[in-house]
Amino acid sequence: MKRIYTIAKLKAELRKAREKGKTIGLVPTMGALHEGHASLVRRSVSENDVTVVSVFLNPTQFNDQTDLAKYPRTLEADCQLLESCGANIVFAPSVEEVYPEPDTRHFSYPPTDSVMEGAFRPGHFNGVCQVVSKLFMMVEPDRAYFGEKDFQQIAVIRRMVDDLGFRLQIVPCPVVREATGLAMSSRNTLLTDEERLTAAHIYKTLKESKEWAKTMTVQEVHDRVVEQINAIPALEVQYYSIVDGLSLADVTDWKQSDDIVGCITVFCGSQPIRLIDHIRYKG
Ligand code: PAF
Repeated sequence: MKRIYTIAKLKAELRKAREKGKTIGLVPTMGALHEGHASLVRRSVSENDVTVVSVFLNPTQFNDQTDLAKYPRTLEADCQLLESCGANIVFAPSVEEVYPEPDTRHFSYPPTDSVMEGAFRPGHFNGVCQVVSKLFMMVEPDRAYFGEKDFQQIAVIRRMVDDLGFRLQIVPCPVVREATGLAMSSRNTLLTDEERLTAAHIYKTLKESKEWAKTMTVQEVHDRVVEQINAIPALEVQYYSIVDGLSLADVTDWKQSDDIVGCITVFCGSQPIRLIDHIRYKG
């Protein structure tokens, strides 16, 4: 596995691969890798000749600087995991390498980027589009792999790919969960053992709500999910939105769409740590 830190070296390496007719898979990450990332890398390795994993903590997608400062940085451990998964190239550029000038581009794909995370983290998806579009231009992958845990992120990136005409396939990969059901996330390492167990109630409640959806209205399911999670002392729901799985527009009736997803963000613990998850009701 090669470790590459500059765009020039990355491009030179990938040019050689492309000249030999090799396909390229890209797994964009911000590091602090876990089994969820490993599943994306293994999938890319199985579907492409060359797998590039970018490890870049992108400052432009953090609207909260404390959140950025708290984000775990574990490049050595990340490289060991990536090597064991069969990745060919780790691309770990500096902030100056990716942003030699401030990125002034503005991306807007409502409602996908204006609701939920977009509403609570203004500028977040603009930063995601800035860095992902740059990575797509640097790597020119045939396929790019994203975890469905960040369900909204995939919807936004799909719109960007259509808008900018990138010729690549977006491959969404299923959420990987801890034994308790908690969705794997780099942020989980910031939770205490007790908080980690408490956080498992988020997915437990979402799963139960699939049963409630058989007899209750969308509003009733929404309210019960929020009530049940807020009843647990260390948890506080920031939002729960039941939306169309593609446009992410709110749904008010189960018959409104064939693809319906509930997306939640919950604060957990005293710090607190912001956790996201989702459940598919239809589709
Ligand atoms: O999902 C992430 O880790 C990030 O948003 C991404 C796609 C790597 C862009 O920085």
